[in-house]
Amino acid sequence: MKAGPVQHISVLLPQVVTGLDPKPGDIILDGTLGFGGHAEAILGQMAGQGRYLGIDQDTEALTSSQARLQAFSQVSFHHHTFSEFAQVLQELGLSAVDKILLDLGVSSWQIDQASRGFSFQKDGPLDMRMDSTASQIATAADVINTASKDALITIFETYGELPQAYKLADTLCAWRQTKPFETTEDLTFAIKKSYYFNNNRSKMMKAFAQVFQALRIEVNQELAQLTRFLETFPDHLAVGGRIAIITFHSLEDRMVKHFFKARPEQFKPVGKKVIQPTYADTVENPRCRSAKLRVLEKI
Ligand SMILES: C[S@@+](CC[C@H](N)C(=O)[O-])C[C@H]1O[C@@H](n2cnc3c(N)ncnc32)[C@H](O)[C@@H]1O
Repeated sequence: MKAGPVQHISVLLPQVVTGLDPKPGDIILDGTLGFGGHAEAILGQMAGQGRYLGIDQDTEALTSSQARLQAFSQVSFHHHTFSEFAQVLQELGLSAVDKILLDLGVSSWQIDQASRGFSFQKDGPLDMRMDSTASQIATAADVINTASKDALITIFETYGELPQAYKLADTLCAWRQTKPFETTEDLTFAIKKSYYFNNNRSKMMKAFAQVFQALRIEVNQELAQLTRFLETFPDHLAVGGRIAIITFHSLEDRMVKHFFKARPEQFKPVGKKVIQPTYADTVENPRCRSAKLRVLEKI
């Protein structure tokens, strides 16, 4: 795998470490290990004790974090989705953990790899699977080439909050009759054909971002993953244990917010209810601007 000097800047790093307050001996579950940036900082507080279970569905992320974290012998690496975390615990003979971290979405490295198809700024295959080894998962091209027009409208409206989604769905359905969609450029071209942007580049970029986000959420079933995780994790977090979740768009943030709001007898916030990046953070890492961190303790 090709790696640039900065693969991914970990979002709200000091706030995650302070919020989770890792202690030597803790068992920590990281459901989105990525490039191991949060993991490295958290492990630095654990004095070589305890366990750190790193899950990621992207094998390239696991390879990279394995190299980064080789100094820490208490880390184990698991190629799973985070919604399958209970299976990982069972395999390790564990029933509960002390701390959990979810840093949702994709990493900068994944976005920057043209071959993964996440970016509208790079031409590549329309893939968008976080687990590119999972041949049973439909790629973004498969979705565009086979979903009904109504299904496409629902995907763009629900997951991308795209106005007039029917216009794009019309274009896609007409286009695919002559030639199947294959590349990210095919898709950006179709978006440009569907809407009148009046030379307004930022409006066009916004539409690109909404469409790509919608397809990524659909391909990776991101909301279903989060729902399944939220339904199961409370039974596997120790009393007094903490969970930190970083969301990047309103759909997942709403789910997390409502989940905890409905359970005041089971979870209490640690510090501020919502922690957001400062202006300086967003200058250093513009991709973190929509991040929201919630840290809660199980009562
Ligand atoms: C924002 S990055 C995490 C970055 C990491 N915290 C760091 O500091 O390097 C999100 C990672 O979570 C993974 N991921 C997203 N959804 C997942 C899921 N449902 N199950 C497992 N891994 C997932 C992605 O493949 C990606 O590597």
